[in-house]
Amino acid sequence: MLAFTRTFPDVTARSYGSVATIDAGGCAVSVLELRQVVKHFGAIHALSGVDLSINAGEVLGLMGDNGAGKSTLVKVMAGNFPPTSGEVLIDGKAQHFAKPVEARERGIEVVYQDLALCNNLSAAANVFLGREIKKGIGPFRWLDHGAMARRAGALFSELKSETRPLDLVKQMSGGQRQAVAIARTRLSKAKVVLMDEPTAAISVRQVAEVLDLIRRLRGSGMAVILISHRMPDVFDVCDRVAVMRRGRKVADKRLTTTSPEEITGLITGAIHVA
Ligand SMILES: Nc1ncnc2c1ncn2[C@@H]1O[C@H](COP(=O)(O)OP(=O)(O)OP(=O)(O)O)[C@@H](O)[C@H]1O
Ligand SMILES: [Mg+2]
Repeated sequence: MLAFTRTFPDVTARSYGSVATIDAGGCAVSVLELRQVVKHFGAIHALSGVDLSINAGEVLGLMGDNGAGKSTLVKVMAGNFPPTSGEVLIDGKAQHFAKPVEARERGIEVVYQDLALCNNLSAAANVFLGREIKKGIGPFRWLDHGAMARRAGALFSELKSETRPLDLVKQMSGGQRQAVAIARTRLSKAKVVLMDEPTAAISVRQVAEVLDLIRRLRGSGMAVILISHRMPDVFDVCDRVAVMRRGRKVADKRLTTTSPEEITGLITGAIHVA
C-alpha cells in the first residue's frame, strides 16, 4: 500500500507535532489503533470495547486504578495474547499477532516494568541480546563485541545518556537501566514503544532522566504509550491521557484540556462518565 506522512501542526506547547500516516485513499491513519477490543479471562471482563489510537511523535499517558486493564491492553498490543474480539491496526492495517515477536517485527516494542535485563552482562550485551552482531570467515562465526560496543555507545549518546557500553548492568542505577532498555527499542527501529510503569521504582533525579528519554523518543518520531500511576510524570511529558476504569476507557483527553484533579476523579470513579 502506498503510504506517506504529513505533519499536523500542534497548538499545544508540550507537543512537537504528531504525525499521522496518510493511506492510498488520502485518509489519515494512526500508527497504532485499537478498535472495540474486548478481553475476557473466563468470567473476568478485563477489557470491554476499548477504542484507542496514537500517532507518530505523540506520547499518550495510560492511567487507571489497579486492575483497570492497563497491562492487559498493553499485552494485546504487544501480541502476548489475542483479543477475545476487536481489532489491532498498525498504519491502518489489521494485525493478528500469534506471538510477541510478530508484534516486534511490525514495530511494537515493550519496555517492561522489570526491564527484563541480564544483570551479569554489560550494557552493550543487553542492548544486543537475541540480535547479536556476528563476524566470521567462511563457515566460522563469532560475536563482534567491538561492533556491538561501538553501536551501543552511539545509541547511548544519541539518547544523551551517560551509560557506558561495557559497564555491567548489575552496577547501574535505575535510570541507566531504563536507558539500556530504551536503547534496545532504538536498535529495532520501533514505531511504537509501550512503557509499563518505567518510573515506579526509581529516584527523583532518575525519573527526570527517563522523562527526558521519552521526550527524545517522541522527538525522533516514535509513538510512546506511558502507563503510570504518577500524575506529575504524565502531566510533565504526555500530550494526551487515556483513563481506564474497570476494563473501559472512560476518558481520552489532551493534557491542555484537563487537570490532575479531573483525571484523579475519573480514575477513582468520583467523576462519572455516562
Ligand atoms: N492472565 C490473566 N488471567 C486472569 N485474569 C487476569 C489475567 N491478567 C489480568 N487479569 C485480570 O484482568 C483485570 C485487569 O488486569 P490488569 O493487569 O490489566 O490491570 P492493570 O490496570 O494493569 O492493574 P495494575 O495497575 O495493578 O498493574 C484484573 O481483574 C486482573 O485480575
Ligand atoms: Mg498493570
